[in-house]
Amino acid sequence: MQTEVMKWFDLQAPIFAFSHCRDVVAAVCRAGGMAALGTTHMTAEQLELELKWLDEHTDGKPYAVDVMFASKNPEDLEGINRPEDVEHLIPQGHKDWVENLLKEYNVPEFSQEEKQDIFKDYMQGMVRTHAKAKKSLEVVYQHPLAKMIVSALGPPPPDVMEEAHSRGLKVAALVGHPKHVKYHKQAGVDMLVCCGYEAGGHTGDIATFVLTPQVVEAAHPIPVLHAGGVGRGKQIAAALALGAQGVWTGTIWLSTAESEATPLTRKMIIEGQSDDTLRSKCGTGKYARRLKSRWVTAWEEPDAPEPLGMPLQSILINEALERMNKFQPEGLFSYPSGQVIGMIDHESDVRTVMYELLMEFGETMEYLEKLYKGDE
Ligand SMILES: Cc1cc2nc3c(=O)[nH]c(=O)nc-3n(C[C@H](O)[C@H](O)[C@H](O)COP(=O)(O)O)c2cc1C
Repeated sequence: MQTEVMKWFDLQAPIFAFSHCRDVVAAVCRAGGMAALGTTHMTAEQLELELKWLDEHTDGKPYAVDVMFASKNPEDLEGINRPEDVEHLIPQGHKDWVENLLKEYNVPEFSQEEKQDIFKDYMQGMVRTHAKAKKSLEVVYQHPLAKMIVSALGPPPPDVMEEAHSRGLKVAALVGHPKHVKYHKQAGVDMLVCCGYEAGGHTGDIATFVLTPQVVEAAHPIPVLHAGGVGRGKQIAAALALGAQGVWTGTIWLSTAESEATPLTRKMIIEGQSDDTLRSKCGTGKYARRLKSRWVTAWEEPDAPEPLGMPLQSILINEALERMNKFQPEGLFSYPSGQVIGMIDHESDVRTVMYELLMEFGETMEYLEKLYKGDE
């Protein structure tokens, strides 16, 4: 069985993956699926190193690169390197509130020098202007196995579409509402990833079971992948039944040995139930689903400040996230994850997850065929 999008890349499995971890990306590609590397916080130089590594580790199989294109007034932040330069944009009350929350959990502070470096790294790495996104794409174009660019938020700019297509790359984009499909169609994307409420990371408020068929209808004839909540092979069969040409997955890879997840993230994913994640604006200013912790719930309390917009919220909390990543305060630490954590109860590895997904997918298709024929 090969759906149209599988044929584009000669895939053995209708399984696409998103990961910030190159080991996961390479392992999924080697196992017959296709994975996209998340590049949100990478400079062009870091991206070059990652893609060079991928070229050497996918056994010649294609991969994709996920890019976050610029926010509304991106050029305003060009050239900003010191925390002092954005002080006037971030309310002091927000800063104090975040600091007090970290104090509650005794999260150690960074030195003044470390703070400056973290800020600078973040501002340089965060692809937040069209110019920076273009610089990263120039890197992507030098790697022939990078066969697809994926836009994390919104339709890619017209010049990116033109350039990518002229070089033979496919362009895909994530979408969380049927009403946004028309903008992607106008932009000329080749594929849409429809991302439902239960997904980890940025997500809208429509559940996949009703979102996917609507996006498939609105997008026709553009192929669609179903994203959100996939952790079993039977869900791949369901996604195909809803009209998708495959699934796009994120959270399940966090439980694999290859992933970037810390021991605490793994513990929270393996022990967590589906209601142990929350959608919150606390990470970027746009709704994203994360593991439930005090970091997330505190932002919902009456005394909490309103999260800032994008990209200021990320600038506000970046140092706090670095501190939490480094010191892993239990109870406060959180990480993007979807409701599918309720279906994950042990650590695995990418190859085994791929094998199990495909086995159950095959069994489900056989079961459905028998059921339809009246043999079951
Ligand atoms: C840890 C994590 C980080 C993510 N970061 C991004 C990102 O930077 N860009 C993006 O397009 N999607 C990102 N996503 C969302 C995935 O692309 C995907 O839509 C989602 O994980 C699918 O739902 P699932 O987690 O239920 O499988 C992220 C997801 C996770 C779990």
